[in-house]
Amino acid sequence: MKKNQIDSQILVIFGSNGDLARRKLLPAVFQLFLDNLLPEKFAVIGAGSQEKDENTYRNDVMQSLNEFAKKSVDENSDKANEFLQKVYYKKVNNQAEDDFGVLKEYIEHLSSTLEITQNIVYYFSIPPFLYEVVAAHLVKFGLNNEDNGWKRIIVEKPFGYSYDTAIDLDKKLHNGFHENQIYRIDHYLGKETVQNIMVTRFSNGFFEPIWNRKYVDRIEITAAEKIGVGSRGGYYDTSGAMRDMIQNHLLQVLAVVTMEPPSIFDSDSIRNETVKVLQALRPIKGNEIANYVVRGQYISGQEGDQILQGYRQEPGVAPNSKTETFVAMKVFIDNWRWGDVPFYIRTGKQLPERVTEVVIHLKPAPHQLFKQLCLTEPNNMIILRIHPDAGVAIDFGMKIPGAGFKVQNVNMAFHYSDLAEKKISEAYERLLLDCMTGDSTLYARADAVKASWKFVDPILQAWKNNPEIPLFFYESGTWGPNESNTLFGDKYVKWRQPFEKFKTD
Ligand code: BG6
Repeated sequence: MKKNQIDSQILVIFGSNGDLARRKLLPAVFQLFLDNLLPEKFAVIGAGSQEKDENTYRNDVMQSLNEFAKKSVDENSDKANEFLQKVYYKKVNNQAEDDFGVLKEYIEHLSSTLEITQNIVYYFSIPPFLYEVVAAHLVKFGLNNEDNGWKRIIVEKPFGYSYDTAIDLDKKLHNGFHENQIYRIDHYLGKETVQNIMVTRFSNGFFEPIWNRKYVDRIEITAAEKIGVGSRGGYYDTSGAMRDMIQNHLLQVLAVVTMEPPSIFDSDSIRNETVKVLQALRPIKGNEIANYVVRGQYISGQEGDQILQGYRQEPGVAPNSKTETFVAMKVFIDNWRWGDVPFYIRTGKQLPERVTEVVIHLKPAPHQLFKQLCLTEPNNMIILRIHPDAGVAIDFGMKIPGAGFKVQNVNMAFHYSDLAEKKISEAYERLLLDCMTGDSTLYARADAVKASWKFVDPILQAWKNNPEIPLFFYESGTWGPNESNTLFGDKYVKWRQPFEKFKTD
């Protein structure tokens, strides 16, 4: 992609003083600038509730870059200054309709003085209850009007709080924006390594033939986090792991792992295939929940000399909170490729490692010729490591050199870091650039969001209505409640314990 292929445009960030803007968005825009990917005529408008002048905001942006940019930033460099000259600020109280009239005038003024066409990306980096409010205010002042340039909105997750609220939000957004103007961001889809799952599957001849119920025994998807909720307790306590991670990130990864190959590589074809998977998820009914879903919450624990705080002691969390910080579940996809193959999905906070990976467990060979000689039973696995130490590994049995036929499990691994000359771009860089160029392939479509809510909603309802469904406590720094292993229904099968460094067990 060359900068002259991208339309000149303005990026308006609502919530520009917030955590997401500071940590992710501004550093991502800066990196795109350094990589020469932004158009020549480009401006960022920070729209925040605080009263500030442009210089103060530029200093704030510089601070964010110092703290969070990928590489250290020399504040006095020409590049840093050139970037800051593209940054502007307007005070906007998202709830005050009139502020949007002022914003409109400001955009018109900038667009005429800087000679930038009014192609605009509006980034909603704001609390979810404000999405519909800001969208309505934009519409009220014609800031959605495409007569003088295209308009796109990027909506952060969570998209809705439940199935009904997601549908309602969607309707409200569609009041002024067409589907092709709405970009529902799920940063997992922006991860290079998640996209690589498609490339691994569909650009090679030898993975696809075994990627089905005939050869696959089960698939595990783990997104483990070492950190707790930290300062996000207020938000997290109303959300929980099911809404925060499963409904969006993990179901999207599941869809990419299990989708049918599209016949052409374009946004519609890919999204048509992923949505079919989400629509084929076998519903988990109220009375089956205990057999299919295990929820947990971290209590205090110890790591070396450090005492790790329990969830209920985190700031912003109710002292008797029943919010889950861990979910493990068994799901099925009712279609021809995956009929009756179990998928085990788990995510949790305050676990021993930060690891996200997909493990395809293949069925054993039909006849174990070397059974008596195996040191460990050959474990045929394909591991797609999303982070850290991104890559792909294959585990299989090999003869131990020497007399006889002793077999041992070995591992062949590809590490992304070996492609030293290629850097992995941050998810937000990729996704912002895609929206700027009008490519929605890696954004969730309305039907996909709807299908994933439809799947998780009955579970959330059951938890809410049946307090007797257990919430298992786990010590911080452990792999979650032991009860999560019961999902396998076989005392010899357990969750794979991933390691930070790419090796297999
Ligand atoms: C966010 C969740 O969407 O994803 C956070 O709100 C979570 O709770 C984060 O920590 C995980 O993202 P990543 O890229 O660090 O795996």
